[in-house]
Amino acid sequence: MNEQKDLMRGVVAIDGPAGSGKSTVAKMLAQRLGYIYIDSGAMYRAVAYRARQAGLDVEKDPDEIGRLSDELEFEFRQTAAGQHLFVNGEDVEAAIRSPEVGNLSSPVSAIPRVREHLVAAQRRMAADGGVVMEGRDIGTVVLPEADLKVFLTATAGERARRRWVQLQEQGIIEDYEQVLRDQIKRDQRDSSRAVAPLCKADDARELASDDLSPQEIATMLEGWLNQSLSEGDKS
Ligand code: DC
Repeated sequence: MNEQKDLMRGVVAIDGPAGSGKSTVAKMLAQRLGYIYIDSGAMYRAVAYRARQAGLDVEKDPDEIGRLSDELEFEFRQTAAGQHLFVNGEDVEAAIRSPEVGNLSSPVSAIPRVREHLVAAQRRMAADGGVVMEGRDIGTVVLPEADLKVFLTATAGERARRRWVQLQEQGIIEDYEQVLRDQIKRDQRDSSRAVAPLCKADDARELASDDLSPQEIATMLEGWLNQSLSEGDKS
């Protein structure tokens, strides 16, 4: 890492739909820069997981789910198996990656009180800079002043294929067509909800990831970030 980057610990916001490649790219970029990586979707998944554990129904009990989320403290910790999310001290990483929790996290993330609590927690995590945060509303709502905002896209078929491969790697066997159907449904819900829908910030750079490797994208982002930081330094 060079001295300039050490001195200016920037903030990077990466948004995009499921399977656009943002997690892989965000992790890689954070590692290259020595920044913290924050997977904001993991936090919504954790609320869904805890709500399910508590026997709450997302349609009938949105207020209870909102109250439950207020009680949750989130911490990303490095473990021997990589970065894991801990909620009130419990390692929830494995539990939150199941397709059921993934599907449930979409309606849970549309509950305004859940979003309020999580957005505040995400802003605290980014307060000291040196952060790459990925999600759906990072550039628009959580960190609108980020030094670099990127909106990653890819075709629906390519995104479902990536998700399917990811699930296989986790030992979760799902039918590809089912993954594609779940994904289209989740995208529609995430893009059409009233609060903080998935959308590109006006000043975000949009990038289609279909024909680019994560390494290539991370290199582009690193270049844009350095440019933005040095421009900011001059003003
Ligand atoms: O990225 P993911 O699939 O792990 O996200 C899980 C859900 O959380 C997804 O349906 C969208 C929602 N989410 C959100 O509303 N805002 C974010 N910043 C991140 C995720």
